Amino acid sequence: MTRLLPASDPGAIDRAADLVLSGGLVAFPTETVYGLGADATNDIAVARIFEAKGRPQFNPLISHVATREMAAALGQFDDMATKLADAFWPGPLTLVLPRLPSCPVSLLASAGLDTVAIRMPRHAVAQALISQVGRPLAAPSANRSGAISPTTAQHVLAGLEGRIDAVIDAGPCDVGLESTIIAVSDGTASLLRPGGVPTEAVEFVCGPLKRPEGNAIQAPGMLASHYAPQAQIRLNVDAVRPGEALLAFGEDVPEHDGQMENLSTTGNLVEAAANLFAMLRYLDTASPQGIAVMPVPDEGIGEAINDRLRRAAAPRPDAD
Ligand code: TXA
Ligand code: MG
Repeated sequence: MTRLLPASDPGAIDRAADLVLSGGLVAFPTETVYGLGADATNDIAVARIFEAKGRPQFNPLISHVATREMAAALGQFDDMATKLADAFWPGPLTLVLPRLPSCPVSLLASAGLDTVAIRMPRHAVAQALISQVGRPLAAPSANRSGAISPTTAQHVLAGLEGRIDAVIDAGPCDVGLESTIIAVSDGTASLLRPGGVPTEAVEFVCGPLKRPEGNAIQAPGMLASHYAPQAQIRLNVDAVRPGEALLAFGEDVPEHDGQMENLSTTGNLVEAAANLFAMLRYLDTASPQGIAVMPVPDEGIGEAINDRLRRAAAPRPDAD
């Protein structure tokens, strides 16, 4: 059975921390999406994450920390990594750094790589939980493998009810899509996944990022097909086909006779990011024949929105 713990209940954090310390799985809110948390130093608990998600392969997990001290015990911070952490932590940035020999995180969470992914979320509930546990929390997005990432506790339950011990409910996530992932090695920063911190903002701090060439998969979990709804997704659409639902952006909406959701009527990309996953989920159930998506500008957090839309639209032989 999966317990729903309202974040406003006194004792919710204590109960969740006890579950984590006894090897349990607890989904918790972050500012990006809900994470499926376990004690990152407990091999069996980490293995249970893969099992609960039904992940087909051991894709490495992000370790979530509450303090810089906790982060410094896991990975090697050079000047570049320190500058990025100073600028964006706590917040939606994940750093992939060389793993320290003394790093206590389960090797399973690094999936055999000699690096460790570290993130310090800014959500107060995430911070309280990690502090209470006193250890890093390994946490992928709290969805079944291949499904759309959850931005509410109800989304988490829709996919993982009965497979995890608890979910802390703190309402919808502010940012709405996952963290930006930057790998730092030998003083060079590379973009592994666009996300909640706009790439331009990262480059403002550390200079031009190395970017993947063509379609190369950087983070092992960055498969072409992801967030796969049942419905066929058509991107950059200016005319809606009969029977298709419309995922709109801005006020200039094409004619349509089916369901419609608008990511942001005012054309605000931050609002669009926060709405993206919930609206995709809704249209997927409301109109499984197909979803037409209007173009979204590829600037700021729009780059991450377009990345997720391309993965949702891709043919799906495999899944994360
Ligand atoms: O916003 C987020 O990042 C959310 C919240 C819960 O923090 N988490 C999240 O985790 O999106 P997940 O597991 O869905 O995606 C993590 C990505 C995967 O693509 C994985 O391959 C990559 O991070 N990753 C983790 N460790 C890595 C490493 N050592 N080297 C390269 N990529 C890594
Ligand atoms: Mg995920």
